[in-house]
Amino acid sequence: MGLLDNKFAIITGAASARGLGKATAKLFAEHGATVAILDLDEAAAKAAAADIGERHVGLACNVTDKAACDAVAAELKAKWGRIDILVNNAGITQPLKIMDIAAANYDAVLDVNLRGTLYMSQAVIPAMREQKSGSIVNLSSVSAQRGGGIFGGPHYSAAKAGVLGLSKAMARELAPANVRVNAICPGFIATDITGGKLTPDMLTSIVEGIPMGRAGEASDVAGCALFLASDLSAYCTGTEVDVNGGSLIH
Ligand SMILES: NC(=O)c1ccc[n+]([C@@H]2O[C@H](COP(=O)([O-])OP(=O)(O)OC[C@H]3O[C@@H](n4cnc5c(N)ncnc54)[C@H](O)[C@@H]3O)[C@@H](O)[C@H]2O)c1
Repeated sequence: MGLLDNKFAIITGAASARGLGKATAKLFAEHGATVAILDLDEAAAKAAAADIGERHVGLACNVTDKAACDAVAAELKAKWGRIDILVNNAGITQPLKIMDIAAANYDAVLDVNLRGTLYMSQAVIPAMREQKSGSIVNLSSVSAQRGGGIFGGPHYSAAKAGVLGLSKAMARELAPANVRVNAICPGFIATDITGGKLTPDMLTSIVEGIPMGRAGEASDVAGCALFLASDLSAYCTGTEVDVNGGSLIH
């Protein structure tokens, strides 16, 4: 018996091989879910879905495009008959100082992290309301809680703090429909999100600030997402769960 038997899950930004979304997709599949991996590149999304097993699907979806989010949700609802879980995982970051954030930087980071979370949630909420059940898991960050200081700039902290506010407000509004919304705040996890811009010195100073003395692994975040997606967390909504090795204890 898997924790997600007969559940249908959408995970955005889940094609990245070492990313949190792919690790989450793999764990959900191991626990019985059928998963749709969405990402910018269709071929990469399909390859990632095939990699976790044959019943899963990979689709192109840029989460900043509302029509694309609605189209993918409609396609999956038609195919599956229901949508039980959404993990809003697509995200980008940039290591910029406050005075270096140009309009295009602000737009890119706010759009993928925050607008994308809104659009994809809006795309699945009607199905979840109709079913009177659903779980939405949003990827925020320790950067939202402690004001950056890891890798991303202030615009990333702002976007992820926006994700926390959005999660909590959605949790309040959707609770009567038995749709739960929770956020995960990962600390530093070794993935490719840093795009080659993480220097060895930066890594050393980040790890020095982690009481557990190591970077997190994608599977550390996936385990938390599994808890929040499954009925184990049936009475949790509006929460922010830290997965940070003790780098912020509050
Ligand atoms: N890695 C960390 O240390 C860390 C810490 C805190 C929070 N997070 C958050 O976790 C999430 C996953 O991060 P990751 O480290 O796995 O990153 P990653 O770069 O490995 O994966 C992110 C994926 O999102 C996709 N993506 C980017 N823009 C998109 C768009 N507009 N539409 C759809 N997909 C898009 C990318 O193609 C990529 O596959 C992000 O939201 C990130 O901000 C990561």
